Amino acid sequence: MCGIVGYTGNEAAAPILLDGLSKLEYRGYDSAGIAVFDPESRETAVVRAPGRLLNLVQKTDGGAAVPGNCGIGHTRWATHGEPTEANAHPHHSAGDLVIGAHNGIIENYQELKQKLLRHDYTFYSDTDTEVAVNLVDYYYKKYNIGPIDAIAKAMVRIRGTYALALMFRDYPGEIWVARKDSPLIIGLTDDAALLASDVPAILKYTRTVYYIDNLEMARLTPGHVTFYDLNGDAVEKESTEITWDAEAAEKGGYEHFMLKEIHEQPKAVRDTLGCYIHDNVIDLSATGLTEEFMRSLERLYIIGCGSAYHVGAAGKYIIEDLADIPVETDLASEFRYRNPRFAKNSLMIVISQSGETADTLAALRMAKERGVPVLAVVNVVGSSIARECDYCMYTYAGPEIAVATTKAYSAQLVSIYMLAVRLGRLRGVLDEETYAADIAEMTALPDKMERVLEDKERIQWFASKFANAHDIFFVGRGADYAISLEGSLKMKEISYIHSEAYAAGELKHGTISLVEDGTLVIGVLTQKDLLEKTVSNMTECRARGAYLMGLTSYGNYFVEDSDDFTIYVPKAEEHFIGSLAIIPLQLLGYYTGVARGVDVDKPRNLAKSVTVE
Ligand code: F6R
Repeated sequence: MCGIVGYTGNEAAAPILLDGLSKLEYRGYDSAGIAVFDPESRETAVVRAPGRLLNLVQKTDGGAAVPGNCGIGHTRWATHGEPTEANAHPHHSAGDLVIGAHNGIIENYQELKQKLLRHDYTFYSDTDTEVAVNLVDYYYKKYNIGPIDAIAKAMVRIRGTYALALMFRDYPGEIWVARKDSPLIIGLTDDAALLASDVPAILKYTRTVYYIDNLEMARLTPGHVTFYDLNGDAVEKESTEITWDAEAAEKGGYEHFMLKEIHEQPKAVRDTLGCYIHDNVIDLSATGLTEEFMRSLERLYIIGCGSAYHVGAAGKYIIEDLADIPVETDLASEFRYRNPRFAKNSLMIVISQSGETADTLAALRMAKERGVPVLAVVNVVGSSIARECDYCMYTYAGPEIAVATTKAYSAQLVSIYMLAVRLGRLRGVLDEETYAADIAEMTALPDKMERVLEDKERIQWFASKFANAHDIFFVGRGADYAISLEGSLKMKEISYIHSEAYAAGELKHGTISLVEDGTLVIGVLTQKDLLEKTVSNMTECRARGAYLMGLTSYGNYFVEDSDDFTIYVPKAEEHFIGSLAIIPLQLLGYYTGVARGVDVDKPRNLAKSVTVE
C-alpha cells in the first residue's frame, strides 16, 4: 500500500528510484512519481504519471531525462482523491521550498488545510500529503528553523500515520524522513544512503539497514544517516544485516511470484518448523515465552486480517482440541472497536505477514494497554508488530512479493500447530507418545506438500474448465471450514470470480438458494468425523444442479461416489492436514486467475501491506 524510495549518492538517482519502485509494485498502487535534484540547474524536477510504473519509466526515458544524484520516489495507492497525475506524489509546497512523498493517512488534514489556507497557502491536489508538505514549509519559514525542527513541529500537529520523505531547496543532496506507524527502512553504502518502504527496493545496493522507530526523524546524506527524536536530539541506532539473498525477491524462472511462492511452501514450512523443533522437542524459548507462563494461560485471543485471520480460524479448532484452552478468534478490524472482556491469564496472539497491518497493530496496542500480553506470529523482521509485541514467533517464509499470500499463510499455520502441541504437552493434555507423534507428523508435512505440488496439472486443467464460472462456493466443517475460508479468498482475490466459504451446515439456512445449474461447489473433506456430513450437504447442492469438487485425503475414495471431480492429498494427522489441503485451493485460484488473464501478482484494488484502516 504505497511505496516510498529515496537515494542520495554519486550515481544517477532516477534509474535507482525507478528500479526501487518496481520492487515495491507488489504493494499495490495506481500512480507513481519521482523528484530529483539536478545540481547543474539547481532545480528539482518532479515527474508523475497515473497508472502503471511503466508510464513513468517511459515519461522519464528510464530516468535518463531526470538528471541528478539525489531524489525521492513514490507509488501511490489512492486514498484522498482520484489516481490522477495531480494527486500523484511527490508533492511540492506552495513556492517549491519543500518537496515530499508520503505513505499513510493524515487524519486531521482538513483542519490543517484550513489553518494553512488562512495563511494564504494554495493547493493543487486533493491529497493529505500536499497539506503535510505545506505544514512543514509553514513552520520552516515562520520560525526560521532547520528541517528537523520544522518536521518535528509538523509531526506534533499531524494526527495519523506517515512515512514521510522530504527534500528542502536549501539543503541540496539531502533527504529528510519522519515516521509514525508506516513502514520505512534506511540503507547505507560507503557513498550513498537509501530509504524504502521495504527491503527488496534496496537489496541490490546494500544489506545494511536501519529501522527507524515511531516518531523519529532522520537526515540522509551520501554514506551517512543521523536519527533524531521528536525533541530534535540525535539518537544512536544499531544497523541490521539482511540475510536473505536478492534472488529470494526475484521470480526465479516462474511466470509469477505467486506460483513461485506456492512452490516455496515446503521450504517455508521446513524452515519455520526447523527453527522451533530441535531434537524432536518443540522449543519456543526464542519467542520469549516461558513454560510457567504457558501453563498459566486460561484463554487465548487470536487476531488478524484476511488470510492471517483464517489461520486464527483454524487455530481455534486446533488449539482447543490439542491444548484444551478456550480460544476466541476475531478480525482485527472488528476486535479493535469492540469492548472485549479479557479473561484473566489470557494471551493475545496476533498474526501478520507484513507486521504492519494497521488494524492488527491497533488490536495489539489495545491488548497491551489493557495489560494483556501479546505474542506476534510475524514474518517481517523488525516490523512494527515484531517490535511492539511482548513475545515474537517469527515465521521463516522469506520475502513474499505476490499480493495474495501463500507461503506466509502456510508458515503461520505451522507456527500455530507448534504452539498448540507445545501448550497441549505442557498442560498435560497430550501424553509423551502423542506429543512425539504430533511432532513427527508436523515434520513430515514439507515432503507431503511437495507431493501435492506434483499434481498441479490436474488442477490447472480443472481451473480452465471453470474459468468462466460466476459463483463458486467452498464448504467444510470444523478445521475444513477454516481452510475453505482461505480457499475462497484465494479464488476471489486473484480470479475476480465471486466466491464464498460456508460452514457446510449453514447452507440450508439460506445460501443454498443461490445454487443453480452448473454452480461449482467445492467441499473440503479431510476431517473424518465431519466429512460425511459435508458430503451430504454437497449432495443437496447437486440435487439443485451444482457441479461438485471434493478435496480429501487418499483413502477416502467413497467421496468419488458423490462428487464430479476429486482431488486427493496425502494422508496426515487431521489437525495438520490443512497445510496440505490448502495447496490445491491456492493452485486453483492461481490457475483460474491466469486463465482469465488477471495480473495475479498484483490484483486490482489490493495492496500487499494494508497500513491504513
Ligand atoms: C490475502 C492476503 C491478505 C492478508 C491480510 C493481512 O491473500 O494476503 O488477506 O493476509 O491483508 O496481512 P498481514 O498478514 O500482512 O497482516
